[in-house]
Amino acid sequence: MSGFNQPDNPTEPPADPATAGHQPSHASNGDPVSDVARERLDADQLPEISDERLQAMSQDELVDVGSKIDGVEVVSREYRLKPGSRAEKGAERRVAMCFSLAALLVLAFLVLYIWFPWKFTDTKPGEFTLASFYTPLLGFTLGGSLLLIGAGLVLWSRDLMPHEVSIQARHEGASPEIERLATAATLQQGVESIGIGRRTMIRRSLMGAGGLFGLVLLVPVIGGMIKNPYKDNALYYTAWRKNMRLVRLNGTPIRPSDMEPGALETVFPGIEGSMTPNTIADSATMLIRMHQDQADKFQARPGQEDYRWNEYVAYSKICSHLGCPVSLYEQQTGRILCPCHQSQFDVTRDAKPIFGPATRSLASLPIKLDADGYFVARHDYREAVGPAFWDRERRP
Ligand code: FES
Repeated sequence: MSGFNQPDNPTEPPADPATAGHQPSHASNGDPVSDVARERLDADQLPEISDERLQAMSQDELVDVGSKIDGVEVVSREYRLKPGSRAEKGAERRVAMCFSLAALLVLAFLVLYIWFPWKFTDTKPGEFTLASFYTPLLGFTLGGSLLLIGAGLVLWSRDLMPHEVSIQARHEGASPEIERLATAATLQQGVESIGIGRRTMIRRSLMGAGGLFGLVLLVPVIGGMIKNPYKDNALYYTAWRKNMRLVRLNGTPIRPSDMEPGALETVFPGIEGSMTPNTIADSATMLIRMHQDQADKFQARPGQEDYRWNEYVAYSKICSHLGCPVSLYEQQTGRILCPCHQSQFDVTRDAKPIFGPATRSLASLPIKLDADGYFVARHDYREAVGPAFWDRERRP
């Protein structure tokens, strides 16, 4: 079915060119139709074409020439719905409807992503809050928009684009200029067949949906400009605040005289009202009174020289390896031990790890005394407590 004369039986010798309609190759004479192209064509399929004639060719003619050069035979080409008919208009509206709904869903996704209340709140089993619907709604809107764009494209292709069956004989070698021109014309005709130029309703709705969908890629950037993603992020903050007392689990505050040298007290933020496990879970802190000789050789981290009060230091109880509670304190050696994987931290070197898998010091809580002589925090930990995570240093 190709445009070339091919023997039915490939084992038969080629037919006589004179009887088969072939002509010998032309020598190059400046004609834009190259020798390479001519050799692939029957002379009666591609007559001599001058420069003038080539430039004056219509798009359809160029497409025909290009098809012949490429050895393409268009077997059939037809529209499923009659162009300009009511059925075609209806199909066009359905496609545009899909794209428009997709655009609306993308807009809904952006609004939900930025403004929907997503933070976890305490609930009883079986209870739901708005935050429970945050992720499902994001999935529904983004997935729905993708689905609708896909459905629109399928409907467009099925109902509005011409259905064409073509056969092409493959060839080797570089493409001459005429082939490039013809290919461009073919592509142009393809775009016109799709109807993107004249179907303004579809074009606008697709551009709306596609453009808005592109915005999804910018969501993390735009969302970050509208709302600081680090603000109030539980990973970066604990419940400690400026001048908050250090209290035992029963709520009693601590004075320096309450602790003997070498003693350790587990303390929590003295929050007004009730303390719930969620608010203090990551705030558990070890208040340690070093022996005087340990305090004398204490080495503070740069920038944290004023975090301790005399021989008293306060470190996070959350291990910097994988987050176990570090609660074993060897007062004679000044070592804090984590029972999970045996990491050890040196209290005289600002809780620097000296053994085991932990690689970061325990977070240090800056302390001082208030007017009544009780320990208070100067402010929250300066770094995220517990195990490392990829952007933990970017705390605002
Ligand atoms: S969690 Fe502490 S050493 Fe692994």
